Order: sequence, then C-alpha cells, then structure tokens
Amino acid sequence: MLTSDIVGKLRCTAAGSAAGIARGLDTGTTKIGPVWEGDVGDTVDFEALRQRAVHSLFEHLESMCVGAVAVDHNARIAWMDEKYKALLGVPGDPRGRPVEEVIPNSQLRRVIDSGQPQPLDIMEFDDRSFVVTRMPLFGIDGSIIGAIGFVLFDRAEYLRPLVRKYEKMQEELARTQQELAHERRAKYSFSQFLGASESIREIKRLGRRAAQMDSTVLLLGETGTGKELLAQAIHSASPRASKPFVGVNVAAIPETLLEAEFFGVAPGAYTGADRRHREGKFQLANGGTLFLDEIGDMPLPVQAKLLRVLQEREIEPLGSNKVVRVDVRIIAATSRDLHALVREKQFRADLYYRLNVVPITLPPLRDRPEDIESIADRILEQLAIQQGTPPRELLESAVQVLRDYDWPGNVRELYNTLERVVALTDAPILTAPHIRSVLPGMQHPAGASVLPLAAGARPLQEVLHAAERHAIAAALEEANGVKARAAKLLGISRASLYERMVTLGLGATQ
Ligand SMILES: Nc1ncnc2c1ncn2[C@@H]1O[C@H](COP(=O)(O)OP(=O)(O)O)[C@@H](O)[C@H]1O
Ligand SMILES: [Mg+2]
Repeated sequence: MLTSDIVGKLRCTAAGSAAGIARGLDTGTTKIGPVWEGDVGDTVDFEALRQRAVHSLFEHLESMCVGAVAVDHNARIAWMDEKYKALLGVPGDPRGRPVEEVIPNSQLRRVIDSGQPQPLDIMEFDDRSFVVTRMPLFGIDGSIIGAIGFVLFDRAEYLRPLVRKYEKMQEELARTQQELAHERRAKYSFSQFLGASESIREIKRLGRRAAQMDSTVLLLGETGTGKELLAQAIHSASPRASKPFVGVNVAAIPETLLEAEFFGVAPGAYTGADRRHREGKFQLANGGTLFLDEIGDMPLPVQAKLLRVLQEREIEPLGSNKVVRVDVRIIAATSRDLHALVREKQFRADLYYRLNVVPITLPPLRDRPEDIESIADRILEQLAIQQGTPPRELLESAVQVLRDYDWPGNVRELYNTLERVVALTDAPILTAPHIRSVLPGMQHPAGASVLPLAAGARPLQEVLHAAERHAIAAALEEANGVKARAAKLLGISRASLYERMVTLGLGATQ
C-alpha cells in the first residue's frame, strides 16, 4: 500500500504534524534506547511503537481529511487517495502527471521549492473552495523528495466563523481609518476666515491663488493671527481637498522623536518596545497637504532631512533602507523671523528658499482694528451656540476698548478674552468695564478687578454682593446714570435694579 510506502521511506515535517510527533518519539528512542522496561515489568519495543504511531497518525489524518495527495520532487503525482479523486472527478490513475494538470491551483510545487509547509490555505477548484494544508517531505538524508497535501474541508464554509470574525475586524479597521481620514480633513475654509480690512482681503486673494498652484506656501505672522486657519482654507480650496490635511507642530515634538514622527518607523527598527510599523506624517498626508507649524523651531539635522524630502519627494522611514515616494503639498508656518534665523545660521538658507515659494504674511490684529468688531461678533455667536444661550451684544464703547488694546496674542487672545467675559457675567450686553475687567493692565481704576474673583477666600454672600455692586456701578456709568438703560445692560428689570441698589446700599430710593 502506498500509504505505508510513503511513511516508511519519508519523514514528513511540520510543527504539530504527525511527523513532528514521530520525531518526538525518535528523540525518546535515542535517549532511552530502543527497549524500555516499564514499572509493571512489561517490555515496550520503542521503534515498533514509533512505526505504529507514524502509520496510525497518517491513517488518522487521511481518514479525517476529504482528500490527500503526495507528489515527488518534480511535483509529479505519486499517489492520490480515492476520496480526492472522487472529489475532483479525476478519471483513471493520475500517477506520474504534473500535479497542476490535475489540480490547477496546487501549491505543492512551491512547497517543494521553498521547503516551507503551508499549514492552512484556501484553494480554489472550479467554483469550489477547499481548505488545505501542505507539507514538504524529507528523505533520510534531509533532502526534499516531495510534498504532501491534505484537503481538510471540501468547503471553506467550515471556516465561516473564523472568516466572519476576520471580516468584522477588517470592517472595524476600515471604519476607524475612515473616521481618522475624516478627522484629518481640513475643518476650515475661506468663508470662515473673517475680516474685511484691505490686508485681509489681499491675504485671502493670495491664499485662493496659492490653493490652485500646488506649490509650497510659507505663512508668516505673529501667534494667533490665523496661520493654521489659512493653511486649512488653502487646502480646502485646492484640488487636494478630498485628501488628508495633516498638521505637525514642530515645536511641540521632542527633538529625538521628530524624525520618527515625520518619516515613520519600519518594523523592527528598534529592539524592544515598538517593533511595529508606524507611518510618518508624510505618509499620512500622502495625496493631501502637510502643514508644518512652527517650522522655525526645527532642529538643524532635521532641516537637512526635510530639505532632501522636498527635493526628492521621497522619504526613508527610520530603520528601513527602502525609500517611499510621497506626494504632499507643504504649507509651512512660523511666528519667528525666519530671515533673521537664516542670518544667525539657525535655519538653513537652502531650506528657507525651498519653503519661501509663496510667502504670505498675516498682519497682527492691532494693525487692522477695523476687523475687530466682526471677528468679536462671530466669536460671541460661536460661544452662544456652544453654551446654548442667546448671543451677547457688544456695546460700542466695549468695541472701542477692544480696538484700543494691542492684542499680543491676536485673534486667539481675542477669543480667550471674550470667552472669559462671557463666563464671568450673565449680562446680555457687554460693556467697556466688562471687557476691561479681563484685559491685563486695563483693570478698574481702583486697581481691583470689577469681578473680585482673585480676592482670596471670603464669604460667598460678600463676594456676590461686591460683584453685583461693581456690575451695577459699571452699568450706571455706561448708561450715564439712566437707570432704565442700566437695567437693560444688566439684563434685569428696572424694578429689580432699584431693589438691588437698595439692598446693596447704592443710594437708590424708591
Ligand atoms: N481671520 C480670522 N477669522 C476667524 N478666526 C480666526 C482668524 N484668525 C484667527 N482665527 C482664530 O484664532 C485662533 C488662532 O488661529 P490660528 O490659525 O491657530 O493662529 P496661528 O496658527 O497663527 O497661531 C483660532 O481659533 C482661529 O480659528
Ligand atoms: Mg498656530
């Protein structure tokens, strides 16, 4: 019988396979000797046991399977069991024929060539899918003399629960990736870039033009002037709009991690902790826009690498010797004086020229006071939406205070200022004292804040009364003493104002 021929002459290897077990018994034989005296005095012929094990295992496996085939070192069929012949509908004796003639998708030739088993695979045959396992066969001298294949199931159906689990994981992965891609989409467009001053109109014009050009843009300007907002608007108006917008703040990343962050890490680049492959920002932004914020803070060695990427348009992930082509539009931004940095040799001149293709300088808020009111109104609108309250109004005198302030933090500071005012008062109309109370160096003439929040621990009643007194005084000042108007500013009725003034000892009489 061919079965015994094969197992008699060949050693079949694969972890956990029949041959693996047979080898285990082998080791036993050499260690303990062919004959072993058991406790009860019976004698066991170890070699005979091994032979038996190999036989029965093979037979067992064969009976469990729905088909089995063995090929010689030329991948010619040496034996095929009746079940397999019936399954495939093979007429006559297939022995001696190249395996692919009978089983077109057989991989046994590859197993012979590589010497590697294929423990689990799905093989197509006509319109059917078989679950198969394949192993190389070794001769006594260790050379490959053939291969053996088992069909574990004649329908991949049996793997359905496993496949379903796998598909579910794939779906989840796809969903997460989609969400991430959505996150990476730019959130702002030119319509959200506020300001009607001549300088802002010019900037929007330049930005729209840059959006169509695909060249590198360099955004200059103080912090909070809207560089990131403009970068997103440019991306959103560009042909890359449907692709990712990925931002990296160079200043926020430790120098030692910058390279990995930019270019990614190949699997196994580091021993230990992170052996997985990690994509760099360049790859994440592929097809889209990469926003390099605070580029002036980039360390010189990384500048050299970035320059190379900008020239070659390819990156080399850390620990890999392969280069990857990337297609990204770069928008760089800095609040620092890049030109001065170049002079001081803190910034590479060649990189500066590479980045400085379309420079756009955003003016500070103090240079365009005419924009303040519209931006402030929009911010108050946004805050109201966030808090689910009606938007607060700004009294003209309050707008004047905003215009007079010099805004070192620009629009960002304006946003924070208004957010603070709104948090500190419920008044629907914001007055000059309200604004002054939160602006540094603009507090109440007495030096104390209108809202005595920083006054240390005091009874709550006292703090509230002090705050009310200040608020009412400010409203009266604003309203030139006209109580009806002051009441409106405070968002209370005139009667309540009278009542509060009496309670607080502000000298009102009924
Ligand atoms: N022209 C503008 N119109 C509306 N919002 C703006 C404008 N300029 C800046 N902002 C807002 O101010 C904040 C700071 O802007 P950002 O773009 O991060 O500034 P930068 O990158 O220059 O520091 C953001 O909340 C942004 O939406
Ligand atoms: Mg910024």
